[in-house]
Amino acid sequence: MSRPHLVRRPLVAGNWKLHQTIGAARQLAREVRNALAGPRDVQVVLAPPFTALAAVAEVLEGSGIEVAAQDVWYADQGAFTGEISAPLLLDAGARHCIVGHSERRQLCGETDALVRRKVEALLAHGMRPIACVGETLEERNAGRTLDVVLRQVDAILGGLSLHAPDQLAVAYEPVWAIGTGRNALPADAQEVHAAVRRRAAEHLGEATAAGLRILYGGSVKPDNAAELLAQPDVDGALVGGASLSAASFVAIVRAAEGRIPERG
Ligand code: 13P
Repeated sequence: MSRPHLVRRPLVAGNWKLHQTIGAARQLAREVRNALAGPRDVQVVLAPPFTALAAVAEVLEGSGIEVAAQDVWYADQGAFTGEISAPLLLDAGARHCIVGHSERRQLCGETDALVRRKVEALLAHGMRPIACVGETLEERNAGRTLDVVLRQVDAILGGLSLHAPDQLAVAYEPVWAIGTGRNALPADAQEVHAAVRRRAAEHLGEATAAGLRILYGGSVKPDNAAELLAQPDVDGALVGGASLSAASFVAIVRAAEGRIPERG
């Protein structure tokens, strides 16, 4: 019998999006670091904008809290004006990177194929992608949620081989739940997460899929985090708005900690 709580360490990541000057980012990182001092059963990651990566990495040094970028380009260097590569992110102190966020898919025209190239570039440099998938409201209302999400999962995981399941995390972020205050019902999130894990098993094998972290994102707040994280296939959270306050982000990390004995 599988005992997922033993193989999957919850991951809570704060996506600060286009917020925080370097000074404000340092301050917020310091508050999170101080509130979460000491050993933790939850992996905690902060994703500031590019300009604040190095400053946040410096504040978090030695804390066990890790830094993520919000995007990457697939080439290491070259004539790609405005882009940032995995080696530059590593140089700035990032070890994780969000890719395929719906805001980039929708506003910047990112395709499944581009997201896949970015995943490969990150893995090639030992960085850990947090690869986002999710359906729009229109797609959900048309009953196409799983078609869309699993197509995105196929593009990310098809033919991929991971040395360890924690090399990559998938984040299910229903587009209609992002920044709307309207989170997915826990049971609906669970249904999608379970389907993602089943599909991941086809690509990566049962053992790797059993260890893969699948995060939920979309209006995660302190008052709904526990019930979302109590779902058996919800292994953490990708938090937008609520990660801009140390108090609410830390409350979500605490909810993820609470999940561990609950599932034992
Ligand atoms: P909100 O938590 O603000 O809904 O944002 C979710 C998100 O997009 C995280 O990547």
